[in-house]
Amino acid sequence: MEKKLVVAIDGPAGAGKSTVAKLAAQQLGYTYIDTGAMYRAVAWKTLQQGQPVTDELILSVVPDITVDLRYHDGKTTVLVDGTDVTDSIRTPEINHIVSQVAALGPVRTKMVDLQRDMATRGGVLMDGRDIASHVLPQADVKIFLTASIEERARRRWLEMREKGYDISLEQLQKDIAARDKADSEREISPLVQVKEATLLDTTGMSIDEVVAKILELCNEGGQA
Ligand code: DC
Repeated sequence: MEKKLVVAIDGPAGAGKSTVAKLAAQQLGYTYIDTGAMYRAVAWKTLQQGQPVTDELILSVVPDITVDLRYHDGKTTVLVDGTDVTDSIRTPEINHIVSQVAALGPVRTKMVDLQRDMATRGGVLMDGRDIASHVLPQADVKIFLTASIEERARRRWLEMREKGYDISLEQLQKDIAARDKADSEREISPLVQVKEATLLDTTGMSIDEVVAKILELCNEGGQA
């Protein structure tokens, strides 16, 4: 594949986007851009204010925030105003408020500008909710990655347990369903599958199988 492609992967929470996107990007020698991490970064700065979370509080941190994604050796480091928040943006507290953060227009405008800047030179694989529909509608390859809600909850549960969080699977499934609803029903750039996107339901598929399928789609996209 000669051409440096722009690859958009969208899908709901827990579909496995970041796991497979990271691996596919590594194999392609592309930069992986985790846009969810950017909304999480804004949520992190909001919580740092130590005040009840309101839309006003979220909007107050937006004008001065610097969000920096550094991708190196298959790993993304997330910096907020120069502080490494890579691990601290993956907590239940952040999960709880991030959909509220991501629904606000000024937050999205700022993050989308950054995301488009990062994609200008091609050779990027970007994952999120509105990448094909809004951020990079000109993407060469568009994939909508999903899995059943039970499977997505189970994956997130394993991930959280590994990090030492004791959350019930049932609670996690409820949280994910609530996040699906909020992300799909919000007014600005909701989660949608655009008609050109290839649907990839990863329920029952191994990580390797999903990565292989993504590489195949990129290969086809590179020849189109
Ligand atoms: O993929 P994730 O769970 O890290 O995403 C965190 C939140 O950010 C999720 O609730 C949806 C939102 N998001 C979004 O609105 N647009 C994106 N491009 C990426 C994530």
